[in-house]
Amino acid sequence: MLQAMPDIKTSAHVASADLFKTVSSHWPSGVAVITTVGNDGTPHGLTMSAVISLSLEPMQYLISVDKKSSTLPLIKQCSRFCINFLNISQGDIGMKFASKADDKFAGINYRTSRFGLPLIVGAVSSITCALASVVLSGDHEILIGDVLEIEHYGGEPLVHLRRAFHTVASL
Ligand SMILES: Cc1cc2nc3c(=O)[nH]c(=O)nc-3n(C[C@H](O)[C@H](O)[C@H](O)COP(=O)(O)O)c2cc1C
Repeated sequence: MLQAMPDIKTSAHVASADLFKTVSSHWPSGVAVITTVGNDGTPHGLTMSAVISLSLEPMQYLISVDKKSSTLPLIKQCSRFCINFLNISQGDIGMKFASKADDKFAGINYRTSRFGLPLIVGAVSSITCALASVVLSGDHEILIGDVLEIEHYGGEPLVHLRRAFHTVASL
């Protein structure tokens, strides 16, 4: 027996921004640093969890970037980005790239790939993408990238859950 749908007007108030954030924080994710490079060759990047393997044929990844991110216009300008899945030992890197520091790469062990992008040394995997399309949605921009190159080193991934970093084993 189908139940009547609740009145949307009376149920809408339960979806507060705080509840949205709390619920979202209870969804475990990996932690990635998305890197790109400026016209002057300077490396840039930000920490992200909104990263999805979107399509196999063609191979595509999706990332969802806050419109306020200072890295976002640089990714679009470069037309390429690299998704670095962080290792359990790289929580400090995750915190650093979640900041607004001027030079997030100071003290970071990275190398430049054949596509000219900074790859975080010690990451579980690094996936280089060419920007294929941009979808505007709310306060974020969804960037879809065609996979150009995958480097996979393995190891345990860093996990983000309830606003803290974890190892898979500790969950
Ligand atoms: C675990 C974690 C996950 C995050 N995920 C995202 C994300 O998916 N998209 C996003 O735009 N920002 C995300 N952030 C926030 C950015 O890293 C943060 O706003 C950063 O300061 C942006 O730097 P920028 O302005 O230099 O680009 C995340 C932060 C943390 C700690």
